[in-house]
Amino acid sequence: MKFFVDTADVDAIRELNDLGFCDGVTTNPSLIAKSGRDILEVTKEICDLVDGPVSAEVVALDSDTMIAEGRKLAKIADNVVIKLPLTLDGLKACKVLSGEGHKINVTLCFSANQALLAAKAGATYISPFIGRLDDINIDGLDLIEDIRTIYDNYGYETEILAASIRTVNHISDCAKIGADVITAPANVIKAMANHVLTDKGLAGFVKDIKAAGIKIL
Ligand code: G3P
Repeated sequence: MKFFVDTADVDAIRELNDLGFCDGVTTNPSLIAKSGRDILEVTKEICDLVDGPVSAEVVALDSDTMIAEGRKLAKIADNVVIKLPLTLDGLKACKVLSGEGHKINVTLCFSANQALLAAKAGATYISPFIGRLDDINIDGLDLIEDIRTIYDNYGYETEILAASIRTVNHISDCAKIGADVITAPANVIKAMANHVLTDKGLAGFVKDIKAAGIKIL
């Protein structure tokens, strides 16, 4: 399973990249706004840092302007993935830009039918938002499962990029279902290393090390 880091915070990306936990990056207008940086400048810096795909989202709502913005974003670096919203205009832009050979991440997906349209429009990635469905009492993981079934039924190569990940359990559940990629905030990815029994076991070792005066160096 590939791990993308869902942030425009360059330091957080660098830390996870050094650990080998960053196969790519996703950004969106909210994350860019949070970084307080210029979208073109910060996207370039992230693309230089990371070998994998870096999603950069258009800001227009009409397909013609989305296409122009997408072409501009794609010029930043070879690893830019153009991120488009799942609207009819977004799908139109997806069809045109994917036809030109650009990689596309179709975002804000909340239904299996939307995911089916994105695949037909040539999306490289589809981003279903798990957490935001959970927020309204709809099981976001059911959507991942449905899209997996539909894509496998027809051999669509669009990768399922599970987004709006809020918990470590979302990540292991997505892995069990067979999502191709998860994108999550850096703190959620790092929290995967935590276990209360690891902490408890280590505390016991530390106590015994001190008592016995065990040294290696
Ligand atoms: O990847 C999409 C993500 O940035 C949205 O997450 O937690 O705002 O629903 P959230």
